[in-house]
Amino acid sequence: MANLLCIGAGYVGGPTMAVIAQKCPEHRVVVVDIDGAKIAAWQSDRLPIYEPGLKEVVLSCRDKNLFFSREVERHIAEADIIFVSVNTPTKTFGQGAGKAADLQYWEKTARLILQHSRTPKIVVEKSTLPVRTAEAMERILHSDDRDLPFDVVSNPEFLSEGTAIRDMENPDRVLIGARDTPSGQKAMQAIVDIYAHWVPRERIITTNLWSSELSKLVANAFLAQRISSINSISALCEKTGADIQEIAHAIGLDSRIGPRFLNASVAFGGSCFKKDILNLVYLCEHYGLSEVARYWDQVVRMNEYQQARFHSCILSSLFNTVAGKRIAVFGAAFKANTSDTRESPALHVCRALVEERAEVVLTDPYALDNARIVLGEDARRVIFEPDPYAAAANAHAIAILTEWTLFAHLDYQAIYRSMAKPAFIFDGRNILDHRGLFSMGFNVQAIGKPPLIHSAR
Ligand code: NAD
Ligand code: UGA
Repeated sequence: MANLLCIGAGYVGGPTMAVIAQKCPEHRVVVVDIDGAKIAAWQSDRLPIYEPGLKEVVLSCRDKNLFFSREVERHIAEADIIFVSVNTPTKTFGQGAGKAADLQYWEKTARLILQHSRTPKIVVEKSTLPVRTAEAMERILHSDDRDLPFDVVSNPEFLSEGTAIRDMENPDRVLIGARDTPSGQKAMQAIVDIYAHWVPRERIITTNLWSSELSKLVANAFLAQRISSINSISALCEKTGADIQEIAHAIGLDSRIGPRFLNASVAFGGSCFKKDILNLVYLCEHYGLSEVARYWDQVVRMNEYQQARFHSCILSSLFNTVAGKRIAVFGAAFKANTSDTRESPALHVCRALVEERAEVVLTDPYALDNARIVLGEDARRVIFEPDPYAAAANAHAIAILTEWTLFAHLDYQAIYRSMAKPAFIFDGRNILDHRGLFSMGFNVQAIGKPPLIHSAR
């Protein structure tokens, strides 16, 4: 039996440790956070995040071998293995502002671990970090006279929100990086042994520390690059009459390209893609690789272009003014099946419409509370409406921003009747039956598709 601790009870710490606890009943797993409200929520029936299947996993092991606590110091002292999954957002101040990772939470955690440790520990990097961060961690951990034996291991997390439990239970691969020393290899084996409880051994990959750290940034950069690539072509489709979904299908059948991550959309969102690419850009600049930095920076620029194109299209289609017009925004989450609204394109579009003085009505099945927080001051100028039918009533337009299945199966005939005319639908996720909507009377504009506009009678 080992005492496993995770520092950081967020989108990564909570779900990953819940699955580890369920798969490794002989280990005691504690998840700590400085945010008392979050810990209270993990201990309650209303978990702090919505994630399909999460509640069942948590309930199966909570208070048996899975515990949530605010007592960071005490649990550090008791732990054998400490996973660190604190937030590593983009720096907003000083050198590297807007690009570099803000490592203040990470460094505080390293110092806390040192301060409260009395026994040897393995420290596992779960957060996404710049390459060579483990070196800084090691230096902090070995910076006092006691010189306690600490081993730092990199084990980046590849789960996606909305499918976190499935991704943890059946990962494409688990990546573990460590020093090529006897104690580094022993620490690595201890982490391999945890995952080997349920992950086939050939899917557990071991590398050196720096390859592991950098692979995480590169994986996110490649995924985001695919979305920016298909989104760039969606703009060309709208000019030429080609259809982006037909193109994605045609190119995706090439086994060298593959079908996944080719859904053109209003833009990619979420807390990580933009932050991790900007971090990669910053690292390349730091090492004097300005061409490489510029290459990856373009992935983020294309994403911003796509987002701006979407709300410009709403404005120009609605006769260049949305002032005083009710616009129903369907979806606040950055993708379906999550309550997370961090960097959500939906909220970006909401802000742009509010700026144009539209009456914005936002609807989402799970993400309205987070949307209210993220919108801050702008929330006062947005109507939050859980019922999509009520949101659409009297609206001039509907904009689909999140691909919730629910939105694909609404009674659009009834919705059309309740709307102001001419009625518009802007499908930022290509989830609707565009021809069917057009025949009901809607004017339909979808990403990467020829517009379907009724001509004036
Ligand atoms: P999050 O903001 O949801 O959670 C981080 C938690 O750490 C917060 O609850 C915060 O209060 C806590 N924390 C910060 N400092 C602390 C301290 N000193 N002691 C105790 N708790 C502390 O973030 P997240 O989405 O879980 O992401 C965490 C890391 O994992 C990031 O580096 C991110 O890039 C990476 N990651 C995220 C995802 C994802 O899907 N969200 C996937 C893979 C990797
Ligand atoms: C992403 C990665 O997929 C995970 O492997 C990684 O662990 C995680 O980032 C992270 O490091 O945080 P996540 O952001 O949760 O996961 O969700 P994705 O499914 O990757 O979607 C990201 C964004 O891209 C969403 O806004 C989604 O709607 C959009 N997207 C995705 C598209 O526009 N088109 C696609 O084809 C796929």
